Amino acid sequence: MRLSTTIRTSPEVVYNAPTMKERIVSGQPEEEDVALDGALRPQRLRDLIGQERVRENLGILIEAALRRGESVDHVLLYGPPGLGKTTLAHIIANEMNVPIRVTSGPAIERAGDLAAILSNMREKEVLFIDEVHRLGRAVEEVLYPAIEDFALDFVIGKGPAARSVRLKLPHFTVVGATTRLALLTAPLRTRFGAIVRVDFYDQDALQAIVRRAATVLGVEADAAGLAEIARRGRGTPRVALRLLRRVRDYAQVRADGRITGEVARQALELLDVDEQGLDDLDRRVLSTIIEKFDGGPVGLDTVAASVSEASDTIMDVVEPYLLQLGFLDRTPRGRTATTRAYEHLGVSYTRSEQPNLL
Ligand SMILES: Nc1ncnc2c1ncn2[C@@H]1O[C@H](COP(=O)(O)OP(=O)(O)O)[C@@H](O)[C@H]1O
Ligand SMILES: [Mg+2]
Repeated sequence: MRLSTTIRTSPEVVYNAPTMKERIVSGQPEEEDVALDGALRPQRLRDLIGQERVRENLGILIEAALRRGESVDHVLLYGPPGLGKTTLAHIIANEMNVPIRVTSGPAIERAGDLAAILSNMREKEVLFIDEVHRLGRAVEEVLYPAIEDFALDFVIGKGPAARSVRLKLPHFTVVGATTRLALLTAPLRTRFGAIVRVDFYDQDALQAIVRRAATVLGVEADAAGLAEIARRGRGTPRVALRLLRRVRDYAQVRADGRITGEVARQALELLDVDEQGLDDLDRRVLSTIIEKFDGGPVGLDTVAASVSEASDTIMDVVEPYLLQLGFLDRTPRGRTATTRAYEHLGVSYTRSEQPNLL
């Protein structure tokens, strides 16, 4: 069976993660990741490890479309970086046996750019729009009728003589991906037929992913070594795979090339990734909330400024995992550190006295 080819629609996809370059536990892709993605990315739904609910939902969507001989309904994938949204978009195209065209919200600058892409789509093809929450307003307006009625609307002429012309488009599928569902405009969100949340992976699934990657990369690793990497992979395949590569380097230079539990532990310690997968930035965020702001509540922007990072970075790649671990709470008045966070950092849970108001 033919696998779909990636057609990179101009303008190119841009990954927007400059501040995260040096962070080993970032879910954002780096060059090395992108280079290896081809070999490691599952190509079909049945190869996908974990995400049972996602697999089942997409499986039904695709199977139904195939039986009817129609295009798949538009799909919106959302969740933190590195969990498999791009992978799933490619899988959808592969399962439908159609090409995929790849672009992203910030790459489509003008409405005309999108119109050009849309008018080149063919029946049942997949248009993948990464960071779909970052589409400009004018661009979004071109997308509405395209998604809803498979049509492009043009206005010809000006003033009283102006008239609107509608161009019919073939039935194609838009797959949108976003790390921030809340930033998507309501009209855009409601036009997707299926909204799929991609969640953090559990330990077993992550370990299976690391094991498979080790086999593909020809790395020798025992179960304890794989478990150690998976435990610190913050439930995120991209992070776990990156840790695997760094641990492999360490094993080659400092051991006999084999990844054992002990080798993995030493390597990860050296990389400053702790037993829960937290790195320096995560710990700084928590300790800032605890030490500077008495455990919170404190606003996100204040925390971000205190650790000299962009709020977006904190929101996309630090908070989701801390929330998942139960180290952080989001309250209407701001972020608070939980007792678990105090324990993890080894700080005793004593909050300063409330000021006496009398
Ligand atoms: N279920 C999975 N099984 C195996 N590898 C996965 C899985 N999900 C993601 N990956 C791997 O993790 C990396 C990140 O996935 P990607 O789809 O780029 O994430 P996202 O688009 O959500 O940021 C890729 O290298 C991909 O091969
Ligand atoms: Mg992606």
